[in-house]
Amino acid sequence: MAVKLGVNIDHVATVREARKAQEPEPVAAAILAELGGADGITIHLRADRRHIKDRDLRLLRQVVKTKLNMEMAATEGMIKVALDVGPHQVTLVPEKPNEVTTEGGLDVEHNKEMVAQAVERLKEGGITVSIFIDPDPVQVKAAKESGADAIEIHTGLYAEARGDERKKEYKKIVDAAQLAQNLGLVVHAGHGLDYRNVGPMASIPGMGELNIGHSIVARAVLVGMERAVREMKELLK
Ligand code: PXP
Repeated sequence: MAVKLGVNIDHVATVREARKAQEPEPVAAAILAELGGADGITIHLRADRRHIKDRDLRLLRQVVKTKLNMEMAATEGMIKVALDVGPHQVTLVPEKPNEVTTEGGLDVEHNKEMVAQAVERLKEGGITVSIFIDPDPVQVKAAKESGADAIEIHTGLYAEARGDERKKEYKKIVDAAQLAQNLGLVVHAGHGLDYRNVGPMASIPGMGELNIGHSIVARAVLVGMERAVREMKELLK
């Protein structure tokens, strides 16, 4: 089965917010991404609402026909928003106020109780829960113990590494994906993936879904969203 593609459209909202204007419209980007073959739309509602706003989340919940994946911190405020809006999936991520983008996986091992409570409440609300973690067996096991349905393996270090370093990072991801499947977890991956480095990720046995934002929106600025998504989908086959 082909790996599914979740398209992260945060950057569309970032361009809008650069001018505090009304365009480009993330909802339009989501529709075009779906026309290009996206299997899901991902957005990160940050505490500071620096790009995606509550209004975007609510509209996308009505418009997205595939799957809406909401990235969020496991805070009380965000859990309330998620339970109210009801995205199909939540991906729990760590969040720091001044980071440019998510910097690494959630440390589930050292925050087990807090994560498990968040997972339980979201699942009670009918939401599938994934947790963004580093490719570390300790974190994979902790994610399983927290009750999550899925993990999203952080591929940022793989994307940045070169040569033997990249091979080492790739092996960590392959091993984490295998362990997760053995434990009965669904496996996703993402961060830093682009048209050149995505191939090996897509060929990992059992890889369910890749979440890709920057490289697709960067290409979409030049060739259009539908084509940018279609070209990425081709690479996942
Ligand atoms: N997965 C997670 C959990 C993320 O936080 C992000 C970035 O928002 C992505 C995937 C997509 O990363 P990129 O924009 O580098 O493709």
